[in-house]
Amino acid sequence: MSKKVILALDQGTTSSRTIAYNSEGKPIETSQQDFEQIFPKNGWVEHNPKAIWESQLKTIESVLSKNIDVEDVAGIGITNQRETTIVWNRDTGEPIHNAIVWQDRRTASYCDELKAKGHEEMIQEKTGLIIDAYFSATKLRWLLKNVEGAMELAKEGKLCFGTVDTWLIYKLTDGDVFVTDVSNASRTMLFNIRTLKWDRKLLELFDIPKDILPEVKSSSEIYGYTRLFGAEIPIAGIAGDQQAALFGQLCTKKGMAKNTYGTGCFLLMNTGKKPVLSQNQLLTTIAWQINGKTYYALEGSVFVGGAAVQWLRDGINLIDHAKEIEALASSVPNSDNVIVVPAFTGLGAPYWDPYARGSIMGISRGTKKGHIARATLEGIALQVYDIVKAMENDSNMKIKELRVDGGASANNLLLQIQSDIFECDVIRPTNLETTALGAAYLAGLAVGMFKNKKELKKHWEKDAIFEPNTNKEGQLKLIKQWHKAVKRSKNWLE
Ligand code: G3P
Repeated sequence: MSKKVILALDQGTTSSRTIAYNSEGKPIETSQQDFEQIFPKNGWVEHNPKAIWESQLKTIESVLSKNIDVEDVAGIGITNQRETTIVWNRDTGEPIHNAIVWQDRRTASYCDELKAKGHEEMIQEKTGLIIDAYFSATKLRWLLKNVEGAMELAKEGKLCFGTVDTWLIYKLTDGDVFVTDVSNASRTMLFNIRTLKWDRKLLELFDIPKDILPEVKSSSEIYGYTRLFGAEIPIAGIAGDQQAALFGQLCTKKGMAKNTYGTGCFLLMNTGKKPVLSQNQLLTTIAWQINGKTYYALEGSVFVGGAAVQWLRDGINLIDHAKEIEALASSVPNSDNVIVVPAFTGLGAPYWDPYARGSIMGISRGTKKGHIARATLEGIALQVYDIVKAMENDSNMKIKELRVDGGASANNLLLQIQSDIFECDVIRPTNLETTALGAAYLAGLAVGMFKNKKELKKHWEKDAIFEPNTNKEGQLKLIKQWHKAVKRSKNWLE
């Protein structure tokens, strides 16, 4: 009997999940486990690598205990929170420290030094990235310099560095396989996205011994096998979570874009087989490599997306449940000149202002809860609008439609507002778990459960399409007021 299930492991920032997919790309079983977030100091965020692994393992076991025969599993695809940095001992497999999470800001002042020394252009040229504590390089350097004896062990080739994909595969294969894929490597700030190799000059700059690094592979191939579950299962796909979502949305052609409305928003646009360097503070990243062909993407990240709705709920108790926002925001025909800038943790792309803070402007005696709710949804959509405009400028391409996913994409009003502001179609697929689906597709292609992209495209189903309403004048006024409000929110703490 031919194998008919792919397991996608989706290791995210706050939870680990496993989803089993059938040969039509439909989810058949799922399991999720939260794990501890560790905040040792203000601005520091850590995870225990063992908790990452154990939570992931439990979800795999749980899925396999529900009506799925391990003999039917054709392969495993892995997708993961990106940039998060783990170092472990090559002989014992023991982590030398907690994982430093992508959100961790402990290396911000070192990043300021790098900028002051004029490394920005060289780093962007090689890696496509902007110098920021977000990426792995400065986190890895911190670990080697601050954990006693780490640098010596690294120089002797006794340590392994990995992003979460690498760590999971190492554990799944009992230490046999030490690899990552190009999409994850492109988030480390050590990987040259043109030569597709670890970059010698960057390793020197960050003082990283080469032996600590995993081998970089494509995003869809058999890397090795896990024997932990009673059968030999190939591990056959890897991609960072946002790139996996781009693939899961089948944005496989140049110019196609997706936006994920999660806690923050991540917008990625496929720019084809050549990297496009941003003139507008966006990131250039590797989307995936399949059959020797490498695809690139432009990426813009908004730090606060759905989290703005959480703030209305938990911070100021404007609503009791997140889903109430849609009705409340619909209770008014417009936001009556109220603008909410959700810069609660600074502004991400294209502003990159860590000192900006949130603001509500334009309040009058007539302002009601509904106006604040609606302006919050507009604030989320307007941040995404700014990224789209920057992307269109960088790529010289017009985004004709935006595919959306993530928790807040269930909100019809948000998507209608988004479409009105962009003046383009916003399309929501039936399957909103596009991250895990992307990983399943990458693995399924490698093991032959899926034939090609053409077959995958048949799986993609539209749930709803939001077309722009043509009140151009109203939209232009809103965008103008938004930019005025952003300007006033910038540099607030400086
Ligand atoms: O770059 C960080 C991103 O990969 C995190 O995604 O979904 O785990 O919050 P998520």
